Amino acid sequence: MVQTLLNIYFQTVDGVVKVDQYLYHMRLSDETLLEISKRFRREMEKGLRAATHPTASVKMLPTFVRSTPDGTEHGEFLALDLGGTNFRVLWVKVTDNGLQKVEIENQIYAIPEDIMRGSGTQLFDHIAECLANFMEKLQIKEKKLPLGFTFSFPCHQTKLDESFLVSWTKGFKSSGVEGRDVVSLIRNAIQRRGDFDIDVVAVVNDTVGTMMTCGYDDQNCEIGLIVGTGSNACYMEEMRHIDMVEGDEGRMCINMEWGAFGDDGSLNDVLTEFDREIDMGSLNPGKQLFEKMISGMYMGELVRLILVKMAREELLFGGKLSPELLQTGLFETKDISDIEGEKDGVRKAREVLVRLGLDPTQEDCVATHRICQIVSTRSANLCAATLAAVLRRIKENKGEERLRSTVGVDGSVYKKHPHFAKRLHKAVRRLVPDCDVRFLRSEDGSGKGAAMVTAVAYRLADQHRA
Ligand code: GLC
Repeated sequence: MVQTLLNIYFQTVDGVVKVDQYLYHMRLSDETLLEISKRFRREMEKGLRAATHPTASVKMLPTFVRSTPDGTEHGEFLALDLGGTNFRVLWVKVTDNGLQKVEIENQIYAIPEDIMRGSGTQLFDHIAECLANFMEKLQIKEKKLPLGFTFSFPCHQTKLDESFLVSWTKGFKSSGVEGRDVVSLIRNAIQRRGDFDIDVVAVVNDTVGTMMTCGYDDQNCEIGLIVGTGSNACYMEEMRHIDMVEGDEGRMCINMEWGAFGDDGSLNDVLTEFDREIDMGSLNPGKQLFEKMISGMYMGELVRLILVKMAREELLFGGKLSPELLQTGLFETKDISDIEGEKDGVRKAREVLVRLGLDPTQEDCVATHRICQIVSTRSANLCAATLAAVLRRIKENKGEERLRSTVGVDGSVYKKHPHFAKRLHKAVRRLVPDCDVRFLRSEDGSGKGAAMVTAVAYRLADQHRA
């Protein structure tokens, strides 16, 4: 009995030590994180300035969202949400008799892979078809409702309802859409059908929608963060610092597109061989390098690549591989959450490894658990480093001694990983001790948020008419 316990103890220690040594470059010290934060701060400035914007990798895109909800918005809206885990169509009703109330109906629709990677016309026809189906179901096909479109990709916006796709990210690669205005594409698709009409009022990034929904509950909310399939953030910047838009008064929300941090080589010293491998096998090599280090679309795959390499070097599974372990995508980010979420994470690791056709020892399971911890902690830490830069920037803009700020957050990694949120909060507080940061989970930022932006646009248009 004592011998067995001792064996388990030594195998545990061995498993952890082995992985800690092997993944030394993935364990970032606070000193490194502060250095990354500083670099990101410079990238932000590069993206904002006219002279450096064209070559900047962090694009700092103006969103034409200048104000957050004030609670008097009302009306009936439609929203589309494309670019997250699911494609959805939503109906949102906002009433403001005393207390603002929001009612929502929504429906998830599948976007088959051949459509995600087919032609743009196919994609937008499919979106219009889902919209038609949804309106039929709700019996609202006769109404011409205002629509907010959450389109979670980098877009060069010229006004609220004109938005040119810069480049696809994440799993999308539909042809003939890059460089085009997605509002025209959706309007044209609806016209081609001719069985309903709609008023497309706003295109919104999911980060912006997230900030807007939280902004309603907390006036200090001036940052929106997504850690899900992809990762990105937006914040309220002073107009006088935004060269790309005329005018110096007030603030405007900037969609940073921080996923592209590192695309100019500025993270080369932090990238590991696994990050490079993920990048090479992706739909957009050389692009979104920061996103590939942290977001849900890639984290599980990072763990899988580490397991494969360690097995090949005979550090795991007695040097044996299985066909399942060799298959892209079979170790999912959800598996990381499951393994780290269980009280007995090592047992859960065994379950996952057995599912992948392996016959792991206790030490293999301990090691796998540890790999998950290291990969997901690095993700939280890297997010904290860039977020710290944003907080510093806002603090300086305001010239405050101590900044009080709220971050609205959404995304499957933030919400579903058992320790991600806690680790992110802790790291941010360590990196910017002179800020009081509050994190607010957004309730359906991308869906409700698009309706909120549309509602605010309607309220402002009303005021102009009055
Ligand atoms: C990708 C997109 C970005 C989006 C993020 C989170 O990084 O380029 O627009 O906000 O994913 O969904």
